[in-house]
Amino acid sequence: MAQTNLRLDARYLEPEASREEVLKWQEDVTLADERLLSGKGRGAAFRGWLDPCALAPDSLLDEICEAADALRSNSGALVVIGIGGSYLGARAVIEALAPDSAQRVYFAGNSISGDYHARLLAKLQSERFALNVISKSGTTTEPAIAFRIFRQRLEASVGREGAAKLIAATTDANRGALLKLARDEGYRRFVVPDDVGGRFSVLSPVGLLPIAYAGVDIRALVRGAAACAAACANRSLDANPALYYAAARNTLYSRGFTVEMLAHFEPRLAFVAEWWKQLFGESEGKEGKGLFPASLNLTADLHSMGQYAQQGRRMLMETFVVVEGGEEGITIPANGGLRDGLEYLAGRTLASVNHEAYRATALAHREGGVPNMTIRLPRLDEENLGALLYFFERACAVSGYLLRVNPFNQPGVEAYKKHMFALLGRPGHEEQTQAIREKVEDGPSGCEITFA
Ligand code: PA5
Repeated sequence: MAQTNLRLDARYLEPEASREEVLKWQEDVTLADERLLSGKGRGAAFRGWLDPCALAPDSLLDEICEAADALRSNSGALVVIGIGGSYLGARAVIEALAPDSAQRVYFAGNSISGDYHARLLAKLQSERFALNVISKSGTTTEPAIAFRIFRQRLEASVGREGAAKLIAATTDANRGALLKLARDEGYRRFVVPDDVGGRFSVLSPVGLLPIAYAGVDIRALVRGAAACAAACANRSLDANPALYYAAARNTLYSRGFTVEMLAHFEPRLAFVAEWWKQLFGESEGKEGKGLFPASLNLTADLHSMGQYAQQGRRMLMETFVVVEGGEEGITIPANGGLRDGLEYLAGRTLASVNHEAYRATALAHREGGVPNMTIRLPRLDEENLGALLYFFERACAVSGYLLRVNPFNQPGVEAYKKHMFALLGRPGHEEQTQAIREKVEDGPSGCEITFA
């Protein structure tokens, strides 16, 4: 069994969330984690992600690798169609671990932008591409529209039978229009397990098929997650960074810190932060509660959001994700006499300068009143990233229970959909259509301001 080498540095949480304060949560955390594992908590039907080896057993990993190989050998690119939890995990891992994969992976159906999709179609004009359409419900508007468009393009170029060999559908096991279509057309099929919600599905076929297509070692990814799951058996806050993280953020939340920024110094982690935002935002943001999850891409955002972080309204806490090693070494060259004031850096690696930028930022933000902690990864590879994903999933579920919400539902997501369906005139929504149109079109007068 692989070891989990992630560490949590909590020193800059003092004084707002001192070690003593955080440890006071031990009993609550133990209860929350027990409830999670025993299935006695809210949303217990959605805990299929808890054991990564059961979610992705060897036989399934073999099947996924086989399908990915077959798709790779017949295409130069894969278009992954999905939104929210049916997309963010794959993108997070691929951008972190295979940013320059020769086998390119594109994403569609995560917006309704005509411009974005037209550009992608143009880019794929002379490319033989494969499709992986991912939707548990099979009815989500954005991916359903995109699938129509890309399937039509594929069929126009290689014929219906040829397209069927290049399409994989990841769907509910038993229900839905997409499942029926996949069966009728003979697409390769994978299942979104019933007991796994979208935002916890990255280590199921939802994430693993596109990740495998990009050339990432999915066995090592799952191994890393499994190691973290095993390490989580110890519920002592002193010996479990994931549980300590859950307790620390709740300590700060109870003291008025209402925004958590996930900050990293490695652009390849930008989509891990996007995935994390969905995980915590959808899991905790309900019943008028929850830390608002935001992200900082550093050092770039130190030149934009850095001002607010340092001196704006004091409601911010921050979690750094820091990769300690394994980076390609680029050394800063001497400047041949040009006086730019940076000669003292000649000979240093970018990695070492980046590390000092992190240490400086963590201290400056601490001194500016932003309590912060750091999750340290020894290197950015499959095992460590798998462990990090599981770390956040486990922490998120426990944190949601500490907050006394159901971390596995997302009832608020339906509100915009109802209005949109009514506005679009979806059959069955006729009654609402008129009412919603009136609301949207007849706002109080005097609210539209134009330049005179
Ligand atoms: O986390 C979630 O449950 C959501 O983000 C869903 O994954 C997202 O809405 C897509 O749903 P579906 O897979 O049914 O198309």
